[in-house]
Amino acid sequence: MKLGAIEIDKPIVLAPMEDVTDPSFRRLCKRFGADIVYTEFISSEGLIRGAAKSHRKLKVFDDERPVAIQIFGNDIEAMVEAALIAEAAKPDFIDINYGCPTKKVAGRGAGSGLLCHPTLMEAITAAVVKAVKLPVTAKTRIGWDENNITILDTVKRLEGAGIQALTIHGRTRAQMFKGLADWNWIKRAKEVATIPIIGNGDIWTAQDAVRRFEFAKVDGVMIGRGAIGNPFIFREAKALMRGVELPPPTFREKIHVAIEHLKMSVEWKGEKYGVLEMRRHYSSYLKGMPNVSKVRDYLVREEKWQNIIDRLLEYELECEKHLRDGTFETLAETLNDHSKRLVLAPAALEN
Ligand SMILES: Cc1cc2nc3c(=O)[nH]c(=O)nc-3n(C[C@H](O)[C@H](O)[C@H](O)COP(=O)(O)O)c2cc1C
Repeated sequence: MKLGAIEIDKPIVLAPMEDVTDPSFRRLCKRFGADIVYTEFISSEGLIRGAAKSHRKLKVFDDERPVAIQIFGNDIEAMVEAALIAEAAKPDFIDINYGCPTKKVAGRGAGSGLLCHPTLMEAITAAVVKAVKLPVTAKTRIGWDENNITILDTVKRLEGAGIQALTIHGRTRAQMFKGLADWNWIKRAKEVATIPIIGNGDIWTAQDAVRRFEFAKVDGVMIGRGAIGNPFIFREAKALMRGVELPPPTFREKIHVAIEHLKMSVEWKGEKYGVLEMRRHYSSYLKGMPNVSKVRDYLVREEKWQNIIDRLLEYELECEKHLRDGTFETLAETLNDHSKRLVLAPAALEN
């Protein structure tokens, strides 16, 4: 897949996720093999107002490249100004969010709200493309609701406006995160597109990623929730793309990566928010480990990062003991059982 100066064959991409894909998590995922990463979405109005929270999200590091800054908004001038501010932060490309379904974004006519105003969406895109030198991409959903699946029209409009790649989350706005991502529409969009298409939705395992490439013939796949507390998915998916099935991470690795992640998160966000934002990661990091519920309950309540690290190290010793005692024989290969959440068998995809 080619995107400006970037050329990557079949990239496996970390999805933009608010309060998740800060630099600490992006760099971790990069280290485990994510080919491209995105910032959390950033409000164009916030950038223009000079809001500290928005400007902080602009920071990108060299060791995470290629990295995109994602912006959202529904005003042409504001989006152009925001794109210029984003460009000055020196990402590798700029992504426009036309997919966010929440009330605070779509309800105000931005994100997926623009799927109801395709001419404005086209005008914003064309203006941003014209204003910046960097490549511009977009991320969208297949339509507003099941009676308004507009993705094929969206592809034509956005490629006409000059974007260089489009990510498609195979759900409608009305679905929010419910139901299944419909990869049939992603496949059809890929068939009509002349620009690279990145498919997104419900990739929970390395096998899912490989199957989605095969099924939809997309240029790249993007992983969101499947990477939360599980940056290992990129290593596994990259290997499986080469035909190599890696063993899952051991409990030791999972615990030590969780600790490293927490330290990076606190370094970036400070103790209060660093600790808070890590909470959504623990259940995946510790999935399948023995007597996990007690330790997890502690981790999602404790406010001091040093105490959390001490508890994780203590838990590692408990796991070692279980392993020695043979109480949890399969521990060394704790399968992250995301595979149980694989909801779309290839046959179902055809329907
Ligand atoms: C916590 C969370 C935050 C998200 N924030 C963003 C965002 O800032 N920008 C965006 O384009 N999508 C955002 N998304 C949507 C994801 O990028 C992705 O499209 C969606 O989760 C479907 O992919 P998945 O099934 O792999 O999770 C977010 C999703 C989650 C779960």
